[in-house]
Amino acid sequence: MTDRSTQFWDRVAERYAARPIKDVAAYDAMLTDAASWLSSTDTVLEIGCGTGGTAIRLAPHVAHWRATDGSAEMIRIACSKAAPANLAFVVAEAEHAFEGAPFDVICAFLVLHLVPDMPATLRAIHQHMKTGGLLISKTYCFRDMNFAMRRLAIPALQLAGLIPHFAVLRAEQLRRAMVAAGFVIEASHVFGSNQHAHYIVARKLAQ
Ligand SMILES: C[S@@+](CC[C@H](N)C(=O)[O-])C[C@H]1O[C@@H](n2cnc3c(N)ncnc32)[C@H](O)[C@@H]1O
Repeated sequence: MTDRSTQFWDRVAERYAARPIKDVAAYDAMLTDAASWLSSTDTVLEIGCGTGGTAIRLAPHVAHWRATDGSAEMIRIACSKAAPANLAFVVAEAEHAFEGAPFDVICAFLVLHLVPDMPATLRAIHQHMKTGGLLISKTYCFRDMNFAMRRLAIPALQLAGLIPHFAVLRAEQLRRAMVAAGFVIEASHVFGSNQHAHYIVARKLAQ
């Protein structure tokens, strides 16, 4: 995580925590799907957990959930929430979050487009997962967005410090990077009306 990224997420953490979920039905549908891939014996790592809302909802389905984020402010807010006993919040950058590996499942919700080197992060996730393990992810892929939004609006909002810097990915590029890292894609959906938020479940097969 770059200093600029850490500063951005620390600065917006309170606002991020307070914002209502835009499409509750879509979020609930995603959680239901994610839960269907989990088992009560799983040890799970989540990278980029933010203020922990998803971890709090999903941790009751597994044995242990380690929820990490590079922003100390995000984790401070997460720790202030009521959480299941099998859930631990830890400050850790995605690239160095793997203490306790290998994991049965690694979750990455709205963070893979933010890491400095997405293919390298995917390789690290793959390396720190059990054979047969799952990556459950949701990633913004803005490359498929219209030209004006992508080339004008996004840079202007970034310049104003209102949104973070991120990789402008195509969904296909993201899928190819997962396959190149050694994953097989098991499911791919868009929940709700945001066509740029790609939910992908991918499995690590035996080499
Ligand atoms: C868009 S928020 C998503 C939070 C949460 N996963 C959710 O779905 O609401 C992105 C989160 O990723 C974290 N983040 C960004 N880059 C990161 C990195 N390289 N390592 C760890 N966390 C990172 C930020 O601090 C922020 O909490």
